[in-house]
Amino acid sequence: MPGLAESGHSNAGMNGYAHGASADLAPGGQRTLVLVIEDEPTQRSLLARVLEREGYDTLGVGNGEMGLRAIVEYAPQMVLLDLSLPGMDGFEICRRLRAEPLTATLPVIVITAHTSMEDMVAALDAGADDFLAKPVQQMELLARMRSAMRLRRAIMSLERATQIVAALANAVEAKDMGLVHHCRWLAHHAARVGANLGLRGEELEAVAYGALLHDVGKIGVPEHLLRKEGPLSDDEWSLMRRHPEIGERICQPLRASLTFAPIIRHHHERFNGGGYPDGLRGEQIPLGARIVAIADAYEAMVHGRPYQPAQAHEQARDELVRLRGKQFDPELVPIFLDELERDTQGVPPLVALPQIAVLEREAVAGV
Ligand SMILES: [Fe+2]
Repeated sequence: MPGLAESGHSNAGMNGYAHGASADLAPGGQRTLVLVIEDEPTQRSLLARVLEREGYDTLGVGNGEMGLRAIVEYAPQMVLLDLSLPGMDGFEICRRLRAEPLTATLPVIVITAHTSMEDMVAALDAGADDFLAKPVQQMELLARMRSAMRLRRAIMSLERATQIVAALANAVEAKDMGLVHHCRWLAHHAARVGANLGLRGEELEAVAYGALLHDVGKIGVPEHLLRKEGPLSDDEWSLMRRHPEIGERICQPLRASLTFAPIIRHHHERFNGGGYPDGLRGEQIPLGARIVAIADAYEAMVHGRPYQPAQAHEQARDELVRLRGKQFDPELVPIFLDELERDTQGVPPLVALPQIAVLEREAVAGV
């Protein structure tokens, strides 16, 4: 099997770095641990030498089963993977890693003598992040590893931030009404309406996120106001009405919030321009915000709020219909009600809802 090309050129280039400076550091400042799954011992130790010279810690195993065990036991930050291994091959390892939430984003770079286009496509389909053909140039390998680590860090920070905001949404839910799963119910039904309107991918996820987090700004509203029974005073209302802007600000550090922050900000706008905070009207109001406004109002009516008693479904439905074109987008109300009806009768959505990660997360469901 062809080996790693330790070219003099690559060495000269890499020796220009201070020891360890070119390697990525794992969170917490420790050295990055790279697991090498490669059945050929010479190749394995060659890779280990190259990586250790660059400041990485390495762990080498000779087959897939040991590789999966090492991942559980040592939690490496990256895997270099040979495709043809005795027993479980590299494709299967990739698939298993991607199927597990804990390793779904673990960077995997395939290094193999199989260089056909089919193998490359199959490896990427199985979930590999990158593919290098043997003999690998050291400079290229190290550059690809740094690139995969950068991507991993970006995903992790996004996931952490998302979980934090989702936890905030749960905290608000508990602080506000003590209503279990309110936001998740809303996210699900808003997404069903979005899917009906042809939204897919990021657009649909944005609706789910926006619905989930629409009231996150209530974290900034005093609890006694949220729980106050009876009508609020003018001053109290003006404080309460700040929650969409507060929510938008809370989510701003999340880069992904570019897509859903407008939903948070505008979920209390009214179709006729009578809402807040900006008095937008009609289609000036982001579509996601128009959807969330309907689902939120319905949910508030049937479950009640400290300042208004709960109503029967029929009453809430009639109220949505009555307010079509005034408070709510007239075209969206029937779509929402139709999906609600289907849901009540246990009929699947008119348009199948794709898997939306944010609706599956434990952080969201865990109350
Ligand atoms: Fe709200």
